[in-house]
Amino acid sequence: MARVVVIGATGRIGRIAVRQLLARGLEVRALTRDAERARQLLGAEVEVHPGDVRRPASLAGLGKGMDAAVLALGTRSYYGKNGNAAVDGQGVAHALHALHADQVPHVVHLSAWGLERRSLFLGLFSLLLNHYFYWKERAERAVRASGIPYTIVRPVEFARRPAQGYPLLNQSQALSLARAALRGVSIEHVGATLAFCAARPDAISKTFELFDGGAAPLAEQLAAMKVDSERSRPPRTPLWGLFSP
Ligand SMILES: NC(=O)c1ccc[n+]([C@@H]2O[C@H](COP(=O)([O-])OP(=O)(O)OC[C@H]3O[C@@H](n4cnc5c(N)ncnc54)[C@H](OP(=O)(O)O)[C@@H]3O)[C@@H](O)[C@H]2O)c1
Repeated sequence: MARVVVIGATGRIGRIAVRQLLARGLEVRALTRDAERARQLLGAEVEVHPGDVRRPASLAGLGKGMDAAVLALGTRSYYGKNGNAAVDGQGVAHALHALHADQVPHVVHLSAWGLERRSLFLGLFSLLLNHYFYWKERAERAVRASGIPYTIVRPVEFARRPAQGYPLLNQSQALSLARAALRGVSIEHVGATLAFCAARPDAISKTFELFDGGAAPLAEQLAAMKVDSERSRPPRTPLWGLFSP
């Protein structure tokens, strides 16, 4: 493991992931729509690849020579030209296509908590944010179908606080909505977990939620996670599906 490409590198989580990767001695390439801003934000040691996930031609060579990719893309507008459909729908698929063409051997994808939860609150939340979970699921499906070995990380609400203790990787516990929405997970934990997984073959084929409050180091928790083929589907269909477009 020597080189990692980060898509969404200038974002809240992407910037932390980049910092963590550099601290691990890895070389980083960053995709951005604004090269000048990215250089200012990320520093000279990060290689900048100007491009836009909505324009596949701009992604040529994005993954060339890379040992892993971190997909930490996001939209803050949810609607419009760079909304959910463009970014989580088409954009993620375009990025995966480019990474596959460049034979990148592992992609770590930042998704969202809630996809498998049956909750009216999450259904309404999704509806309000232009079918947020529908598009997040589309993105996850594209990751699984891409042919690239993957890890999918589903954090709860981001919290702007320093990381304390360990993050909690979760596949089975019924953690409460209040804990997810009100307490959230430190953005430092999210960025660090993405960077950690990028270098871990035992993260491949695993999907897990991410909270604060873990009781063991990441490596130990990751080893205990099941691969997707061994994980049972949620017993009840999530309610956001009722409101899907
Ligand atoms: N907020 C929460 O509590 C929460 C919880 C769980 C999951 N999430 C998910 O986590 C993800 C990341 O969140 P964040 O807050 O770190 O996002 P953010 O700060 O808004 O950053 C978004 C990143 O995406 C890149 N981007 C956006 N559109 C692009 C395009 N068309 N082409 C190329 N790059 C593009 C931006 O790069 P440039 O501007 O440099 O091009 C930027 O680096 C989101 O998908 C969000 O849904 C959020």
